[in-house]
Amino acid sequence: MSLLLGRELFGDIANAGNVLSREEANDLLEDWVTNPRLQLHVKQVAALMYAWAKEKENLEDADAWRWELAGLLHDADWDQWPETHCKKIVEELERRKIDPEIIHAIASHGHQHFGVVPQTKMDKMLYAFDELSGLMHAYSLMRPHGYDGMDVKGVKKRLKEKTFAANVSRDDIYDACERAGILLDDLVAFIIPVQAKVF
Ligand SMILES: [Fe+2]
Repeated sequence: MSLLLGRELFGDIANAGNVLSREEANDLLEDWVTNPRLQLHVKQVAALMYAWAKEKENLEDADAWRWELAGLLHDADWDQWPETHCKKIVEELERRKIDPEIIHAIASHGHQHFGVVPQTKMDKMLYAFDELSGLMHAYSLMRPHGYDGMDVKGVKKRLKEKTFAANVSRDDIYDACERAGILLDDLVAFIIPVQAKVF
């Protein structure tokens, strides 16, 4: 099964700045994502994208919402249409005339699957957060107090254990850090307090 998107251009530049409202995004997620684990995952990645946009990129609220929206919607089609994962949500957002930067970020969040290279900072951070967020959530579930007291050292230990959260691609995580120009330690340290607040 190939998930390759087979193209590099997404959306229309004339739609730059067009977003879904929070209500529209929630409606779409309610319709498309029924799995509670995936619902939590997209909320976690969205919170990380928002926090990064505000704290590290110093973006205004409207731009931070674009980052958050990319996080919220990146896996929206995974639950019900895994065989057309990414293609389905990309086409839906194109149909709704959404900002091409958001669509490109979603299209490039797994470049080895979809064949689209992350280019912008939004692209790179979505790719960087996606897998690591999942691994850290799995780690929080096996700890007696979840995220309380979680540290970088512990997360890196789990990363090195190939059997722990074995479906999480370590190669993607290291590749994403390199592409984003971020140290793994810094990324992990950023994720812990943000993700601790998302339920
Ligand atoms: Fe994801």
